Amino acid sequence: MRLVLVGPPGAGKGTQAQFIAEHVDVPKISTGDIFRANVSAGTPLGLQAKEYMDRGDLVPDEVTIDMVRNRLAEPDALQGFLLDGFPRTVPQAETLDDILRETADSKLDVVLELVVDSDEVVRRLSGRRTCRRCNHIWHVDFDPPAVEGVCDIDKGELYQRDDDKAETIKNRLEVYDDQTAPLIAYYAGRGVLVGIDATGPVDDVTTRAIDALRGFGADD
Ligand code: AP5
Ligand code: MG
Repeated sequence: MRLVLVGPPGAGKGTQAQFIAEHVDVPKISTGDIFRANVSAGTPLGLQAKEYMDRGDLVPDEVTIDMVRNRLAEPDALQGFLLDGFPRTVPQAETLDDILRETADSKLDVVLELVVDSDEVVRRLSGRRTCRRCNHIWHVDFDPPAVEGVCDIDKGELYQRDDDKAETIKNRLEVYDDQTAPLIAYYAGRGVLVGIDATGPVDDVTTRAIDALRGFGADD
């Protein structure tokens, strides 16, 4: 299955991506995670991306598209994938269509939209904590670890993302409305869009997501 998750910052894309990717048995590819790994390793790609990420702006398409093209050419992604955070502009979506046609003579099966309002997004992002080792996502109130600041899974240190400051969150929401929201109509027009209510407990959202994917060929 070739699947894209779309939704505003804080909709729960990263939280749901792991569960859904395991369920449909495809690799999870998160452009935000790849950029953050490059920023912490100090690579040229990371240095290039950091200034945009710190402002909450999108990294330029030419940088992002090359990175995704390379990742999708790796063997584990040839039979299917779950993309989290890409595409997020119409040119990225058009290029993704081209890449799939060229590399695997294939198309996207489904685009799953996580629907959440902006007040909920702000509550979620301001309390988010992420594990430095395994990238697992926690929330200080909605999904707290057993010990504050420590990941339950591998005891890694939890950190707050630099772009989860109030001013940057505001810009990220504006950037989503301006540049990413047009993808909803783009994919609806291709008949591959399905939206779900992404509020309520994490497990309930996962169940809704998996139910929605059944209509697009995911197994039980
Ligand atoms: P990226 O990392 O993709 O960030 P984003 O889209 O802003 O989304 P987030 O990761 O903030 O939110 P999420 O939907 O994953 O929510 P999460 O599951 O963490 O991108 C970061 C930056 O990289 C961009 O700004 C840009 O600069 C660059 N970039 C990346 N891709 C790019 C691209 N394609 N083109 C150009 N630039 C790109 O959940 C949030 C919180 O809510 C967590 O604390 C979680 O525990 C909690 N939560 C989740 N679900 C629930 C629930 N059901 N109930 C209560 N709390 C919940
Ligand atoms: Mg994320």
